[in-house]
Amino acid sequence: MNSYWVAAAVIASWYIWRRKSKAPAGLLPPGPTPVPVLGNVLDLTAKELWLAATKWAKQFGDVVHVHVVGQGLVFVSSPEATMDLLDKKGGIYADKPALIMAGELCGCENMVAFTRYGDTSRRQRKLLNQAFGVQVIPSYHPLIETETHSFIRRLVADPTNYIDHTRRYAGGLTLSVVYGYEAVTNTDKFLTLGEECVDILSNKIASGGGIWPVDIFPAMRHLPPWAPGSGFLRKAAEWKAKMDEFVDKPYDYVKASMKRGTYVPSFCSVLLEDNEKCTPQFETDLKYTANSMYSASMDTTITVFCHFLLAMVLHPAALAKAQKEIDSVVGHDRLPTFSDRASLPFVEALLNEVYRWGVPVPLSLPHRSMEDDVYRGMFIPKGSLIFGNVWAITRDETLFPNASAFLPERYLEKMDPALAKKRDPRSYVFGFGRRRCPGANLVESSVWLLVTTVLATLDISKAKDDFGNPIEPKVDFNNAVFRMPDKFQCDIRPRSEHTVKLLRQAEAARS
Ligand code: HEM
Repeated sequence: MNSYWVAAAVIASWYIWRRKSKAPAGLLPPGPTPVPVLGNVLDLTAKELWLAATKWAKQFGDVVHVHVVGQGLVFVSSPEATMDLLDKKGGIYADKPALIMAGELCGCENMVAFTRYGDTSRRQRKLLNQAFGVQVIPSYHPLIETETHSFIRRLVADPTNYIDHTRRYAGGLTLSVVYGYEAVTNTDKFLTLGEECVDILSNKIASGGGIWPVDIFPAMRHLPPWAPGSGFLRKAAEWKAKMDEFVDKPYDYVKASMKRGTYVPSFCSVLLEDNEKCTPQFETDLKYTANSMYSASMDTTITVFCHFLLAMVLHPAALAKAQKEIDSVVGHDRLPTFSDRASLPFVEALLNEVYRWGVPVPLSLPHRSMEDDVYRGMFIPKGSLIFGNVWAITRDETLFPNASAFLPERYLEKMDPALAKKRDPRSYVFGFGRRRCPGANLVESSVWLLVTTVLATLDISKAKDDFGNPIEPKVDFNNAVFRMPDKFQCDIRPRSEHTVKLLRQAEAARS
């Protein structure tokens, strides 16, 4: 067992006794039986926690409570309960956990996904809306097209490194939009920094629900370096230095290039020019908001794209059907554009199914309740962390019969608008209520074009061994926050020489 938890356990009995003395009149939601003092610590696996949470949902119902040394975690596993709590009562469920480890010690407290609900988060959301409001997105279409075509050219040249190409595509798109910076190689300094920091964030700082003993016993942050269990302070100092670099470096690049007069207009440069006063508060807001857009765009997009690839490898009939539709609408003499979208219903259904079947962020990101609440007679104490269990919802057999199968056709059935909304994976995969993903409008365009252009230009299938036998892709999920498949083998190649020529022509026309 982690030595921090042993150190923490001594203080815990006192803490729990104190909490019990203030126990609410109502009942907490049901959940697995906690062990004395530590609660459900041992139930919280870092690997695929959503599977455990979904097992609890089957056993105890759609609202499950567990605790980690007194810190309540509530897993909400149905469309109704996520809607009731996180959307309809969004005003009291819009906070984010006050995580001492992630926030204060690792320097993430001003990153949008960690910002407490209040003035700062409202100012940040306003900036995000300026960048990614639905009305702004068409202005990015030319850039999205350019980045998509370059991505496919790189993929054709070097298909095995599809993850690096996707990182460069997603990171490159946001680096351009947000900082006016062009990443020219897969090993670009800002892309590498982003990859390293997002990995630290999701697999180290936020692993196992992101709650560290110091979050429960804040006094631990004053432990001297020689004290047993103080190792987390050294880790935090190391990670904070990285996070500071991650936030500062691309922003400093914008300021330096503006000073030299060599900058490409971007979200940051436009706002810096418009805000002559540039108060320290404004700069902090801008710097962290910009960083959050960049950091939030990479692993999410990689995860969705990898699920798309995997689905195409495993389901060649769906790939062929989508290609047939694209060929009949777009023809063979041009690449797809946004104006084709309304004429490609099967591609739309296929993308829906990629979101549902892949479930990029299966437990979403936790919200924190700001007031005591009673829901269906269950007491949800103020300060609980609420996880929208998207995995459970998207695997619900009543909503999605044969839920583990990849079946785009399920979205082609006619149904009333209320049911269609309930079955739309976008109602869940981008999170909930006032913290819903502010990049969703951008993704709605960028991921659509990415998927459609890949379908139009490339064939995807199982890799073959030396004897020509197909190799089953070996899929494992080791990321604690994103359901990102580890790299798997597959075969990606152009559909024809003609499609390669079209890509070359599209790039030449722009240069
Ligand atoms: C397919 C890609 C993406 C998926 C599946 C995704 C999903 C999510 C999810 C589940 C959350 C948590 C919402 C919550 O707490 O309820 C989130 C938050 C966030 N996303 Fe995305 N995201 C994607 C792409 C992007 C992009 C491209 C950007 C920016 C350009 C972005 C920016 C953010 C930010 C800033 C937050 C924090 C919002 C807050 O806490 O207020 N995301 N995203």
